Amino acid sequence: MDNMNDILILGIETSCDETSAAVVKNGRFVLSNEIFSQIDIHKAYGGVVPEIASRSHVEKIDMVVAAAMEKAGLTFADLDAIAVTYGPGLVGALLVGLNYAKGLSFSAGLPLVGVNHIRGHISANFIDTDLEPPFVCLVVSGGHTTLLHMDSYDKIEILGETRDDAAGEAFDKVARALDLPYPGGLMLDRLSVEGSVNIPFPQAFLEDGTLDFSFSGLKSAVLNYLNKMRLTNQPVNYADVAASFQNAVVSVLTAKTMQACERTGSNVLALAGGVSCNSGLRASITDACAKRGIKLYMPPTVLCTDNAAMIAAAGFYQYKRGAVSPLELNAAPRIEIL
Ligand code: KG4
Ligand code: ZN
Repeated sequence: MDNMNDILILGIETSCDETSAAVVKNGRFVLSNEIFSQIDIHKAYGGVVPEIASRSHVEKIDMVVAAAMEKAGLTFADLDAIAVTYGPGLVGALLVGLNYAKGLSFSAGLPLVGVNHIRGHISANFIDTDLEPPFVCLVVSGGHTTLLHMDSYDKIEILGETRDDAAGEAFDKVARALDLPYPGGLMLDRLSVEGSVNIPFPQAFLEDGTLDFSFSGLKSAVLNYLNKMRLTNQPVNYADVAASFQNAVVSVLTAKTMQACERTGSNVLALAGGVSCNSGLRASITDACAKRGIKLYMPPTVLCTDNAAMIAAAGFYQYKRGAVSPLELNAAPRIEIL
């Protein structure tokens, strides 16, 4: 039974190619988490087509929100606030969810809480767990590769980030070069399981001490390798390429994440973002944390990729500290985490 003091938040997420709505209680307990994935729609084009994504969000949002409310067994009058992703992401896609949330906020008389998508990814770690700040978090998504220290629910300190491609971007580009269908990262992960790590692709550790990342050199090295092999008519074992590439990414991510824990003296680590679904990364980080006695939080894969439950979870902590948004809130396709 919900009691009077429970805070119920409807989350809405439309920043890329998932239309999602969720109801989360007290930032931790998921009452519903409806996700309509557009994968089948974009597959024919080999990637997300922004205009098609926006249209599909418009078509589905009503149904997805209604389903989330129905599964939670609630009416809008039971809610305390509406949390919605306002950036970063595709501007047209963001606007669909944001305007829907604004309309609902106005008509139902509920506060609007604009949530940064990346803070949403981090907050997936609060769902069904006892995790509380401070902790170190590795954010690895399609657009971000960032090591950060979460000082409090509000305050974040960036420890390092990618200087060029995000890890997910590198996965998607290499997957494309290996003729894998969209969504590339997941397909590459599956293929890598069948291969061996036997091609020495470069791992960019950069100059001594930095917790920054760089993946564009690795991506180019894989593309150059494939071109060279094709031009000289040598056979290429795609599974070995996938395994060797994935290993190179995972090695750097693991090493720097452990350095981040060491430097901050933190023995609590959380993973966030779509790439944290990666089987190699999960295994490597689990192993490294076990060796060092670091407590590791990894959301289940459905909460690592885009979903509205994580947005409602982030929205809960913002709502609690009074960080509600005006109805003038605009979509912000390029905002950073801070
Ligand atoms: O966090 P996310 O769902 O969306 C963004 O906010 O960007 O992340 C999507 C990224 C894509 O680049 C996708 O290829 C990657 O996460 N991804 C994976 C895996 N599953 C999703 N990358 C590697 N291995 C996976 N299993
Ligand atoms: Zn995301």
